[in-house]
Amino acid sequence: MKFRCAMAFITFVTLVFIGSEIKMVSRVFDKFPKKQPTNIPLDDSSATEKMVLKRLLSKLGANFSHDQEEEEQEDLAMNRNSSGHKHVLLMATTRSGSSFVGEFFNQHGENMFYLFEPLWHVERFLLSPAGARNTSVSSVYRDVLQKLFLCDFSGLEKFISPPPQQHVTTDLFRRESSVSLCDDPVCTPVIKHVFERYHCKNRQCGPLNFTLASESCLSKQYHTIKSVRVIHLDTLKPFVEDPRMDVRIIQLIRDPRAVLASRMVAFSSQYQTWKAWAQDGQVPEDDVEMKRLKGNCDHIRVSAELGLSQPSWLKHRYMLVRYEDIARYPMQKAEEMYKFMGIPFSSQAREWILKNTYTTQEASGVYSTQKNSSEQSEKWRFSIPFTLAQVVQELCGPTMKLFGYKFVEDENTLTNNSISLLEDKVFY
Ligand SMILES: *[C@@H]1O[C@H](CO)[C@@H](O)[C@H](O)[C@H]1NC(C)=O
Ligand SMILES: *[C@@H]1O[C@H](CO)[C@@H](O)[C@H](O)[C@H]1NC(C)=O
Ligand SMILES: *[C@@H]1O[C@H](CO)[C@@H](O)[C@H](O)[C@H]1NC(C)=O
Ligand SMILES: *[C@@H]1O[C@H](CO)[C@@H](O)[C@H](O)[C@H]1NC(C)=O
Ligand SMILES: *[C@@H]1O[C@H](CO)[C@@H](O)[C@H](O)[C@H]1NC(C)=O
Repeated sequence: MKFRCAMAFITFVTLVFIGSEIKMVSRVFDKFPKKQPTNIPLDDSSATEKMVLKRLLSKLGANFSHDQEEEEQEDLAMNRNSSGHKHVLLMATTRSGSSFVGEFFNQHGENMFYLFEPLWHVERFLLSPAGARNTSVSSVYRDVLQKLFLCDFSGLEKFISPPPQQHVTTDLFRRESSVSLCDDPVCTPVIKHVFERYHCKNRQCGPLNFTLASESCLSKQYHTIKSVRVIHLDTLKPFVEDPRMDVRIIQLIRDPRAVLASRMVAFSSQYQTWKAWAQDGQVPEDDVEMKRLKGNCDHIRVSAELGLSQPSWLKHRYMLVRYEDIARYPMQKAEEMYKFMGIPFSSQAREWILKNTYTTQEASGVYSTQKNSSEQSEKWRFSIPFTLAQVVQELCGPTMKLFGYKFVEDENTLTNNSISLLEDKVFY
């Protein structure tokens, strides 16, 4: 036993130093709540070794609760068998930085199948522009997502307009935002005389063949879907519990003042009334726009409260991330997200993040085209009129408090870059 102990310790120490990841291990494990170790039969010697390792780890200050083995046991108990596939939903709202964060996963490499806003088609079909979302809409979203995670595009095809012919379309929304839909073998040659040209980012591909897309999807181990259209986390329960899948949900949130500022720029024409209000300093309290803003904030908070309360169906499967933290520490947050997803953080993904978030010395001059993500994420403070920041604070107060976004009492604080509007906060 002593020999085993020593061997296990040496193995452990070696592993830790080879990876030189001791800091990361403790940092990541610290974020998970303390829990009793699982019962492992003592006659199983490999299990005993793992127990020893666990104890050693806990002596070293790391908490071994988010243990793959424990999850495997839970999965066995649930009869879960995803055949090694992993499914990640990046759940966000518009203008919260989800396209950017989605790239962290889209750029993972050849074992990732990433879809960008497939529910766009479903929304367009189901909702009139002014239509309110209702639970039956959520269940349509969920069913389409569930099929997509299983590489079945038939649910989505029904909502694409014009309807795909023989499972082929030229009309998939933002196909070019998905690396796997523009890569071989899904990118087919363009036959000029038969089809319109269909563009991907750096190459031209023939129309999208869903049969090929499905085959490609099945051949990849990791599946990620980004969506700003899932509103209520609880509507996802049936597919999180689907034994054919191994789902993780990352809820991405952003300061609602920043979101409003960004929407006012991106959807300028829809925000004329807001601009007028800001100009006369008269903001109607009982306006439909106000109710919508408050409703959005409340929905985000309700989902986050559910996720953070760790109901058993979401245990180890939910993570809340603030966009601002990603902007400040992109590599560290990416590492944490990959760790949570149980997917190796590939060198391709690392490279993409490095290139797109950090400004290098030479590049930081006037000629820099690369964004410093942290600076970018603070720009809104100079574009939002103070009156509107106050309105958001009033309507979204509880949401901002939960997520650690500090209120500002005057315009100088709003526009003073050396005052952070972010509380340091760890979400369990
Ligand atoms: C999981 O499912 C796959 C295919 O559905 C099957 O081939 C495999 O044997 C199953 N594995 C377990 C452990 O049940
Ligand atoms: C919910 O949406 C569906 C689909 O658009 C619609 O048929 C149904 O009437 C709506 N239900 C409510 C209660 O609004
Ligand atoms: C789509 O791809 C499948 C699989 O390769 C192929 O059998 C089918 O003929 C293709 N469909 C069209 C319309 O080209
Ligand atoms: C962005 O710029 C700020 C200050 O200008 C700096 O402190 C920070 O380290 C930079 N962040 C990145 C990710 O390069
Ligand atoms: C910004 O805030 C810092 C820290 O509170 C303060 O020292 C500085 O004077 C402020 N700058 C302006 C321009 O108000």
